[in-house]
Amino acid sequence: MANNRILIIDFGGQYDQLIARRVRECCVFSELYNHDNIGIEKIRAIDPKGIIFTGGPQSAYGENAPTVDEEIFRLGIPILGICYGAQLMAYRLGGEINSAPTSEYGRTEVTIDDREGLLRTADDVNVCWMSHTDYISRPPEGFVITAHTEDCPVAGMEDRQRRFYAVQFHPEVEHTAHGFEFLRTFVLDICGCAQDWKMESFAETQIKALREKIGTGKVLLALSGGVDSSVVAALLAKAIGPQLTCVFVDHGLLRKDESAEVAAVFGEGGLFDLDFVKVDAAKRFYQRLAGAVAPEDKRKIIGEEFIRVFEEEAKKIGAVDYLAQGTIYPDVIESGLGKSAVIKSHHNVGGLPDYVDFREIIEPLRLLFKDEVRQLGRELGLPEEIVSRQPFPGPGLGVRIIGEVTAEKCRIVQDADAIYREEIAKAVAEGRMKEPNQYFAALTNMQTVGVMGDFRTYDYAIALRAVTTSDFMTAEAAEIPWDVLQRAMTRIVNEVDHVNRVFYDLTSKPPGTVEME
Ligand code: XMP
Repeated sequence: MANNRILIIDFGGQYDQLIARRVRECCVFSELYNHDNIGIEKIRAIDPKGIIFTGGPQSAYGENAPTVDEEIFRLGIPILGICYGAQLMAYRLGGEINSAPTSEYGRTEVTIDDREGLLRTADDVNVCWMSHTDYISRPPEGFVITAHTEDCPVAGMEDRQRRFYAVQFHPEVEHTAHGFEFLRTFVLDICGCAQDWKMESFAETQIKALREKIGTGKVLLALSGGVDSSVVAALLAKAIGPQLTCVFVDHGLLRKDESAEVAAVFGEGGLFDLDFVKVDAAKRFYQRLAGAVAPEDKRKIIGEEFIRVFEEEAKKIGAVDYLAQGTIYPDVIESGLGKSAVIKSHHNVGGLPDYVDFREIIEPLRLLFKDEVRQLGRELGLPEEIVSRQPFPGPGLGVRIIGEVTAEKCRIVQDADAIYREEIAKAVAEGRMKEPNQYFAALTNMQTVGVMGDFRTYDYAIALRAVTTSDFMTAEAAEIPWDVLQRAMTRIVNEVDHVNRVFYDLTSKPPGTVEME
């Protein structure tokens, strides 16, 4: 399986990770490299079955335009150019690129002229997603035009003899009809890749590799209960069982019952036979947080205190050889292997001190995308509540309680959040709404006057939030059926002490953020 992979060369387009995921959805391994981080020798060493050039914001004829070594076209490897990648291919092979008189953005009707190659599954007029200001005005010698639009003479071209294919539109986005099929045709039929990238076999080979690497060594894992670290725990439990210690720090800022849920899966009598240490540290976190009001101060305190607790536990365990982490592929790409445009502004609270002495760090998920991590978790027998868990910020409820954090406020927001999640889950199960990508209750820290049973109240207001998003970089407030919101509101006000008002947060990101702090 060593060379059964597609190499994706990244020119800074918006959908580059999506291309890599789509290839993997064909059960073929794909790797994404930034264009300036992959020379011809490295390509030869990787020896991919196919290469994809991604989109990008530049003009292929521009002075500092990102490019490729011309030798790449002589390797005999099939190449698919998408958007900027298509223009780059045309430009480097002697075609002509110009600024388009009319730019095309979004949904565009593409007329198919030739369906002998890549576009064999296309409709006569195929709806595609476009986003370009330059276009190919004349293809290089040896290419046939396979598609055009009203404003774009070359929406697709190919040289089937040399196995070079190019499309101006984005086959990787859902809005392109048959787009996934075009990619599938390239990966399976044109490149001839075998479909050997499956989570089942990944689990098997990883478990074997981890066993060999770790030998009789001891491994420590900071388990947060989130998807990534839970899947690492499950993988290591199967690989080395009793040599693993999972340290789970309950900082008192978790969702309702979360601590018990994690302990039930990983603790004694749970699914796995491993050493599970649960540290009840809520009190010391609340003490450290007393008086802290500014979001950044709270984040810093929570992060630092987490590290202190973890260090203490690591010392107690002693003589640990390896530290395991739940790093996943987007983290690897964002730290330089692919492009570097999108850097996460948040650190997980599990950011660990470098001076805890470990021989090595083990990151068994570093090749996987999030949806693959979830699949792997299912493969390893993790319960659905953990596998499909929505993201939860490292500082936990600390950033969902505006202003000072207290044990009482944590209890209020936990109870309100549990009710809200229950009502949404019910509506989703009844098919009345799609599950938002993230939803939760937050405590506004605002107190208002209300009336309950003829008495005046002066209590807290809860804000409900639900967003739809694909990457959490931008988000929109989700549309929740009115009666679901009403039922959640009624229950929260009736069942949660010291809440007398409920708001729904309509703000998108930007200008808002997903979390309130
Ligand atoms: P924002 O609030 O920045 O959140 O729009 C985007 C996504 O990141 C999560 N988030 C965090 N995750 N540590 C994390 O691990 C953090 O400090 C943190 N802050 C926000 C948030 O829940 C959302 O999914």
